[in-house]
Amino acid sequence: MKRTIIITGGAGFIGSHVVRLFVNKYPEYKIINLDKLTYAGNLANLKDVEDKPNYKFVKADICDFDTVYKLVCDEHVDGIIHLAAESHVDRSIKDPFTFAKTNVMGTLSLLQAAKLYWESLPEKWEGKRFYHISTDEVYGALEITHPEGIKPPFSTKASSGEHHLAYGENFFTEDLKYQPHSPYSAAKASSDHFVRSFHDTYGMPTIVTNCSNNYGPYQFPEKLIPLFINNIRHRKPLPVYGKGENVRDWLYVEDHARAIDLIFHEGKVAETYNIGGFNEWKNIDLIKVLINTVDRLLSREEGADMDLITYVTDRAGHDLRYAIDSSKLQKELGWEPSLQFEEGIEKTVRWYLENQDWMDNVTSGDYQKYYEQMYKDR
Ligand code: NAD
Ligand code: DAU
Repeated sequence: MKRTIIITGGAGFIGSHVVRLFVNKYPEYKIINLDKLTYAGNLANLKDVEDKPNYKFVKADICDFDTVYKLVCDEHVDGIIHLAAESHVDRSIKDPFTFAKTNVMGTLSLLQAAKLYWESLPEKWEGKRFYHISTDEVYGALEITHPEGIKPPFSTKASSGEHHLAYGENFFTEDLKYQPHSPYSAAKASSDHFVRSFHDTYGMPTIVTNCSNNYGPYQFPEKLIPLFINNIRHRKPLPVYGKGENVRDWLYVEDHARAIDLIFHEGKVAETYNIGGFNEWKNIDLIKVLINTVDRLLSREEGADMDLITYVTDRAGHDLRYAIDSSKLQKELGWEPSLQFEEGIEKTVRWYLENQDWMDNVTSGDYQKYYEQMYKDR
């Protein structure tokens, strides 16, 4: 079946993996990557698909309703997978307005554009889908009740690795009430509510998923894993917030992209699915794994760089623990993470070390010239 799908935020970290998967897996689809190219957007993330006949890039702001509406109509779009957002918690603490604008008003602008176009068609909502990618941070924070870790209630191929511990008995399930703490998660929560309201009010076929922390290639080096890998490589201090005891549930980004593909095609309209790695790590333990892995891969003495760990002032409102229960997705659609964390982290560290050009382009700011060089005359 032919489809025309807009993927927003396709030049970012997760979006680029979703675009790559869809462009390669569905040559019969037209995939339109709509991205404003903020500091987080990097078209070099998609070099390998930019010349494919079923791929098109459009530089636009999701908040620009007229442009988005025209694109949806002109291209006869029947699916939207919405990832574009301001995504970094630390930036949201400094500049909450930008987060409200993009994450809330931008999502509303997309919803309204899709609604007006789809409602104008004879078949209306038939065969249409608006899929909103959200975060586990909307649920707030969980407590750490077992600081030493306990055996978690669920396990998968990917979580049967050595580490696989839970730090509490509670997990984020789809029916939990929203309790966002940061301006980032408050804005994401608000956008989730708008998406559901378009289903409940107008009947739009929407789906929302809430995912845990992703890791893997092409992540902007303001986030913990790529920032620390690069700092270890250059023997720069590693700023650990607070005591490093916060817990995150890490998922390899390609596993998230696979889940998005499955849910876009087979998920039930109006449902919410949680996506997670069943893979909780205290920041400090994860950082030690990163140091050992980088040291080993650079043929340094393993652990030689432990003294780079530098405890700094904690992040304001720092959520203590995130842990996703994604058993609904596992039971209903058969998804589970494919990679054990040890394997995923090795692959990720190796990728950043082998792609130092990518990292240097990002840290120098040169990546922002890619659009002018490659797309200006297209
Ligand atoms: P990212 O910051 O790497 O990429 C965001 C992309 O959106 C960039 O390409 C940027 O240019 C684009 N963008 C930003 N504002 C825009 C605007 N106004 N108009 C058009 N494009 C715009 O983000 P990410 O980490 O890849 O996250 C993608 C989505 O997944 C976000 O919605 C985020 O909330 C969600 N999410 C992320 C994680 C994670 O661990 N990174 C986990 C769960 C959910
Ligand atoms: O849970 C999903 C969320 O994961 C996504 O919705 C967000 O878009 C994504 O950025 C991520 O949020 P976090 O705040 O958890 O990710 P970050 O990489 O910024 O931080 C991970 C943990 O590491 C967190 O507890 C804060 C800590 N940290 C982070 C940085 C950047 C440090 O200790 N030092 C640092 O320098």
